[in-house]
Amino acid sequence: MASSWGYSPAPESTDTVDIRDDYGLFIGGRFVEPSGGEYVKTINPATEEVLAAIPVADDDDVDRAVDAAGAAFKKWARLPGAERAKYIFRIARVIQERSRALAVLETMNGGKPIKESRDLDVPLAAAHFFYHAGWADKLEFAFPGRKAEPLGVAAQIIPWNFPLLMLAWKIAPALATGNTVVLKPAETTPLTALAFAAICQEVGLPPGVVNIITGAGATGAALVRHPDVHKIAFTGSTEVGKDIQRAVAGTSKKVTLELGGKAANIVFEDAPLDQAVEGIVNGIFFNQGHVCCAGSRLLVQESIAERLLDKLKRRLATLKMGDPLDKNTDLGAINSREQLSKIKTLVGVGVDEGAELYQAECDLPDRGFWFPPTIFTGVSQSHRIAREEIFGPVLSVLTFRTVEEAVQKANNTTFGLSAGVWTEKGSRILWMADHLKAGVVWANTFNRFDPASPFGGYKESGYGREGGRHGLEGYVNLT
Ligand code: NAI
Ligand code: MG
Repeated sequence: MASSWGYSPAPESTDTVDIRDDYGLFIGGRFVEPSGGEYVKTINPATEEVLAAIPVADDDDVDRAVDAAGAAFKKWARLPGAERAKYIFRIARVIQERSRALAVLETMNGGKPIKESRDLDVPLAAAHFFYHAGWADKLEFAFPGRKAEPLGVAAQIIPWNFPLLMLAWKIAPALATGNTVVLKPAETTPLTALAFAAICQEVGLPPGVVNIITGAGATGAALVRHPDVHKIAFTGSTEVGKDIQRAVAGTSKKVTLELGGKAANIVFEDAPLDQAVEGIVNGIFFNQGHVCCAGSRLLVQESIAERLLDKLKRRLATLKMGDPLDKNTDLGAINSREQLSKIKTLVGVGVDEGAELYQAECDLPDRGFWFPPTIFTGVSQSHRIAREEIFGPVLSVLTFRTVEEAVQKANNTTFGLSAGVWTEKGSRILWMADHLKAGVVWANTFNRFDPASPFGGYKESGYGREGGRHGLEGYVNLT
């Protein structure tokens, strides 16, 4: 990338990871072969190199996994909370001990920069287990005066943008509340989930409490429809969220859905502009923009729009894109060929609809899936790039004049997951937080996560909350 200062390569070593040629399905505490004998290859999206062969779970395998989880449930649910907590603590500790290897594996399989997997994904995953271990024996304080009963077998389906972290968001609260789990990672990023399965063995988690089955949409669909599943926790596209909603209609399955977003990151004229630029960059270029709560719509007050955009464009020129394993890399690879083609299509639509495209000069590697950081100005609310989730490093910029107009534009979306507000005035932050229809509102920061803080959406961003005391509610019946 063009910049006045060069950096020497600083690649993280891959010696810490041990990737097998092929893996099994983790059912009943053991790795087993898939009944249909089918495997697919998982690759490194930065190099297109094949990493391993991954089993595809068919209906029989889904059956086996749900049976194993059902068989383990009675004992696990009856275990005193303090005993369940010991296992969850042990998991958290082993994740910390293995943090370097897990971060490298996450980066190799998913394409995200090592500095993100090392500093965010893995530490936050450990934090989720620590946090929920703390709740396991304190559920009576989470729900005073009521009894919290576990639901049974939780089917958990996760996406590819934060593979280990989404696993932690799902598994930690399920175990803390006494449920057992069948989890399906996304088809492009199964490796850290399979490494997690080995951690479950290592900490002596009773067989069947956690089962991990790999496969694509058909495996997920079969899992959702299995009659012995009592709870579904899904993170992914709104399209699949709607399919799950249809599949559970008329059943008593409890569901939480965490779907897409088109968040507004709103900058007022009194905001500290240099900090806001960092927040905008973090909001949309973190994890290549593969973030459900990404600040993909920048709403900037008209009086400062030009100054802010100048600063932003200068900042773009210093972002380093390339080898995700390099410790200096800011933007890694796009997760898959499919996602890259979706991004390219929507960016093409943006140009066709008349928005103005800006991309910093940068050299893209020859192999792998890459897309440069991109800004669209002159965007109007009817443009598809202002309405649809692109899920890539593409920012749509709109302007506003008054506070009311900012709110109206921010809420003019079918989603409602997150929003950002940049201003010096505390009263304005509170007023905005009251009026924005978003599950999370960040003020003078963006993409900040904490296991104690509930996360979730409005409208087509889904329902239910994950994290915090509220996140426990999705895993219990209260009597
Ligand atoms: P997806 O929703 O198809 O995949 C997410 C997970 O659901 C994967 O594990 C997948 O195997 C599983 N799945 C797929 N079809 C299923 C079905 N019918 N029943 C049960 N499980 C099923 O998302 P995809 O296709 O990978 O990405 C498409 C778009 O979705 C992205 O471009 C992005 O806009 C959005 N997305 C949003 C995410 C979020 O964090 N909210 C995460 C991933 C994607
Ligand atoms: Mg899909």
